Amino acid sequence: MSSGNADTIFVLVGASGDLSKKKIWPTLCNLKRDFLPSNSKFVGYARSKLTIEEIKAGVKPHYKMKTAEDEEAFDSFFSNSTYMSGKYDEVSSFVKLSEHLKSIGGGRDINYVFYLAVPPSVFDAVTSNIKLCCMAPKGFTRIVVEKPFGHDLESSDILSKHLASLFTEQQLYRIDHYLGKEMAQNMLVLRFGNQMFGPIWNNQSIKAVKLTFKEAIGTKGRGGYFDPSGIIRDVMQNHMTQLLCLVAMEKPPSLEADDIRAEKVKVLKRVQPIVMEDVVLGQYVGDKTKPEDSEAYQGYLDDPTVPKGSTTPTFATAVLHIKNDRWEGVPFIIKAGKGLNERKAEIRLQFKDAQGDIFSQKCQRNELVFRVQPNEAVYAKLMTKTPGMEFKLEETELDLTLTERFQGHKFPDAYERLLWDVYCGNQSSFVRSDELKEAWRIFTPLLKEIDSRKPTPVEYIFGSRGPQESDELERKYDLKYSGTYSYVKQNKSQL
Ligand code: NDP
Ligand code: BG6
Repeated sequence: MSSGNADTIFVLVGASGDLSKKKIWPTLCNLKRDFLPSNSKFVGYARSKLTIEEIKAGVKPHYKMKTAEDEEAFDSFFSNSTYMSGKYDEVSSFVKLSEHLKSIGGGRDINYVFYLAVPPSVFDAVTSNIKLCCMAPKGFTRIVVEKPFGHDLESSDILSKHLASLFTEQQLYRIDHYLGKEMAQNMLVLRFGNQMFGPIWNNQSIKAVKLTFKEAIGTKGRGGYFDPSGIIRDVMQNHMTQLLCLVAMEKPPSLEADDIRAEKVKVLKRVQPIVMEDVVLGQYVGDKTKPEDSEAYQGYLDDPTVPKGSTTPTFATAVLHIKNDRWEGVPFIIKAGKGLNERKAEIRLQFKDAQGDIFSQKCQRNELVFRVQPNEAVYAKLMTKTPGMEFKLEETELDLTLTERFQGHKFPDAYERLLWDVYCGNQSSFVRSDELKEAWRIFTPLLKEIDSRKPTPVEYIFGSRGPQESDELERKYDLKYSGTYSYVKQNKSQL
């Protein structure tokens, strides 16, 4: 594994776009400030005729600047960056880009990282032109790509074949930013570095697994982007499926990227394609009790960027079944939606009822929760005796709130970590082509059915927990919610 060094030029293709402005430029700026050598070079490339100063001005509102040092870091970053305008489908533009890179490299053995923040329509042209004109003569060339990786199994296969005809798998870094989140990174350690979890991590002890993605905001004028995808393509087939892999995979023989990814592929291969009976689709409607100018007042269909009468789901719950020794009989329930009551991503393992009950059915099921965001935490919900003369049972928790336990530690942004991994050549948190294929295999029959039949999604009110049909589906799979637990935050300073 090579470390990030000044001999790597980072080329941001699609440098003037939304993702670049809001996420990639600011991330690069932080990376350079905290990790990369001070003379690291960055090049923006896009069609718009802009200067690097204009790019900088566009990024500035999205870069969190709290101190004078932040401002200095921002200025210093852009003083090491250049911008070139050029077409995506024109070889001569990429020849010029290549000359520009060589001139920056000053004849040294330079490495190139290309980050593709471009729409899928120009993806083929850009990658072909990079291969034709812009491969690093001596150093490494790495290509970082973002979703969408196709819109179903067939289109994803075509894309994968195209990329494989140009680059090796070692050169390709398919980003799923959920894999860069602290809790996702922690899952391997929590699962495989603790003997106590091993024996209970299976269908002998676990009743159901629930993976939740909730956003308290709607599509907010991004209907043009969201509507052709819907929530299943937007977060379930990728982010949530990746989290599922981390929960369900077997222990890899090592931490090598390909060992980890091989285990993810193995478990995905055992996941059955999702059937419509195991799915609830929803679409949010406005909460008319809220002020008219609030986001909550607007339903999905009220958004002018959403096509009239769209049946695109903004919410879905789907039950996945893994046919292997460890998981046969344990439903993996993925719930994902926008316009809900809270922002939350978590993995919840619900255990079976305690056997041989001697407590007159007063025990609730144990749960082990990995909260991915916000405020990363691992907690186990369990029964205890309430202190006192009385023999009374109560639900409580073993609580590891990472932000409290590790105060003063930096929790890196997912993109920051993943882009650092690209510099370092660490592919363990990037999606391999066979993983991608399996993930699409699981979702494609369902997506095709939804695309062709266009079932009307169930309405749910903006700011609610989602449609009650989703809770019914969970109950059908015997995921229990008692509503009896309440969390009492301890005042640690008094302990
Ligand atoms: P919740 O009460 O938020 O959720 C428990 C589960 O029950 C979720 O899957 C939730 O579904 C579901 N649920 C909630 N309401 C209903 C309902 N009416 N019908 C069916 N299902 C329902 O979390 P916990 O029980 O884990 O914890 C309670 C609170 O305590 C939470 O706010 C949690 O953050 C907090 N807590 C914090 C800790 C920490 O910060 N370290 C430690 C322990 C607890 P869905 O998500 O789909 O709405
Ligand atoms: C993106 C989706 O991949 O993930 C968005 O396209 C979603 O719709 C986002 O909002 C969620 O990411 P995070 O890191 O904010 O939870």
